Amino acid sequence: MCGIVGYIGARPALPILLEGLYKLEYRGYDSSGVVLHTEWGLQVFRTPGKIRDLENLTRGASAPYPLGIGHTRWATHGKPSESNAHPHLDCKGLYAVVHNGIIENHMELRKELVGRGHTITSETDTELIAHLLEEQEKPPLEALLSIRGRLAGYYAFAVLRRDDPDTLWAARLGPPLLIGLGEGETYLASDYMAILAHTKKVILLEDQDVAEVKAGGVRVFDRDGREVQRPVQTLQWDALQAEKGGFRHFMLKEIHEQPQAIRNSYDGKICMEEPRMDLEGFDALRNIDRVLIAACGTSWHAGLVGKFYLEQLARVPVEVQYASELRYRRPILTPETLMLGISQSGETADTIASLRLGLEAGCPVASVCNVQGSQIHRMSTAAVLTQAGPEIGVASTKAFTTQLIALFLLALWWRQKRGEGIRPLYDALLALPHLMDRVLRTEAQVQELARLFFRKRDFLYLGRGVNYPIALEGALKLKEISYIHAEGYPAGEMKHGPIALIDETMPIVAVATPGDIHAKMMANMEEVKARDGILIGIVGEGDGQTASICDHAIEVPVTHPLLQPVVNIVPLQLLAYHIAVKLGCDVDQPRNLAKSVTVE
Ligand code: AGP
Repeated sequence: MCGIVGYIGARPALPILLEGLYKLEYRGYDSSGVVLHTEWGLQVFRTPGKIRDLENLTRGASAPYPLGIGHTRWATHGKPSESNAHPHLDCKGLYAVVHNGIIENHMELRKELVGRGHTITSETDTELIAHLLEEQEKPPLEALLSIRGRLAGYYAFAVLRRDDPDTLWAARLGPPLLIGLGEGETYLASDYMAILAHTKKVILLEDQDVAEVKAGGVRVFDRDGREVQRPVQTLQWDALQAEKGGFRHFMLKEIHEQPQAIRNSYDGKICMEEPRMDLEGFDALRNIDRVLIAACGTSWHAGLVGKFYLEQLARVPVEVQYASELRYRRPILTPETLMLGISQSGETADTIASLRLGLEAGCPVASVCNVQGSQIHRMSTAAVLTQAGPEIGVASTKAFTTQLIALFLLALWWRQKRGEGIRPLYDALLALPHLMDRVLRTEAQVQELARLFFRKRDFLYLGRGVNYPIALEGALKLKEISYIHAEGYPAGEMKHGPIALIDETMPIVAVATPGDIHAKMMANMEEVKARDGILIGIVGEGDGQTASICDHAIEVPVTHPLLQPVVNIVPLQLLAYHIAVKLGCDVDQPRNLAKSVTVE
């Protein structure tokens, strides 16, 4: 995934572009660049590395120019390098392009363009867009409308033209692109984070839209080239929410925001006085006999917990699939199958593709999303918005726990529709934020564990039942921000192979809070101890018996077993965070990752 920004107005564009790119850096951070429209042509600055490297490169450039576009990259075609960094120009320097997405027929286009005498200077698919535009020899809007038919795959791109000092253009098919409307100035961005400090009035471009952007406003043209009026929306979040708020990293801030995020996730959906829920669009669903969950990464782990909620509370069969597998599997889909997409960003390509399979098969599509107006949200007939607020840290934390709450609400709603009681569960939900405040107080103890174990090179995370997905999620957190190999495993499966890994050097994290299979979990922990493994237990408050078999025990508040995963993941998030900090890793922007994978 990459980040795109653009500005046209009365102020110098460069500082606004750089500020926007810093806000989008979490979308991709292996190279970046800007292009400014100047009286003598298109001035390009681009470099491998972080936005601060780009800022250093532009330092001292007298750049009062009020029109420019910028880009921060997560490499898909071609290594991170200056020549592959965006913006890209055609041979004559007529057009400059920045792009997010993948042009799937790039090899064919490259061959054609070279055959027509173009000199391609980068390994990217993006550069081909500039050459295609240049050879159109039409006014820019017509050129844009006409090249769309040549581009297979999906894209969000912005364009400057050397001979047009008062306009920038944009086109979208797939990855998000929005226009921010200011007073005598207009912004372009991949998402609201880049422009939240300047305006909350935005227009979300639709697929196949082309936009002509000027300081005074924007004209939007649809897939047929007809001018259309897209609605102006007002963003619900403010710039402060997108700042670190005194925390060292966004990830730590977002871990600590979880009590409030959980309140926000059910706020407005439930009646506080008596168990009654209102979930967007679900009342329209009829005759659902199966739920097929499609998700990736942490969201897939949330789906595994959601399976317990829906099957145990609503007695509806649930299948949970990695979206990247499901989309190529030709699944059995019927109009009675509810396709449920879980996605923080609402832009994950594999999840979108899986939901499209459902739409094509006539299935109702629902989603659990954190970004209102995202692609997945907009393609859903029913949705539960997690309302976690902006999640900037690449490693998902509050988005995960609020996804669990959203799935729990859906299960309660479904259970209530079946005419079954939900009172005790409802009360446990309303008590949860207080327990989350309490579990955060284990941070100092967890930090001590991080100090003891941060040099370990392998971890094993074990859980059973509804806590098995928590073992998976705890392992993923550690992997993705500390680069330590960690594996989540069902505790009951250990004896079928992985137990061979255990020796006196390996830390094993066991999620062992009370539940109907707690005795089985304790037996598995004894098996670990019998092989001298270093046992770190997440145990229920006051459970001295379980704590006694651990080398280190973190006691967490106890709630209903189905909601316990929401509490249990917090010390594992903190453990991953503090180990990564001890190792000096880039916690908010881990290597090779991006916040949302909008490419396949
Ligand atoms: C989680 O920490 C990762 N950043 C990643 O696994 C993420 O959950 C996955 O890419 C899915 O993203 P989404 O929820 O935005 O669809």
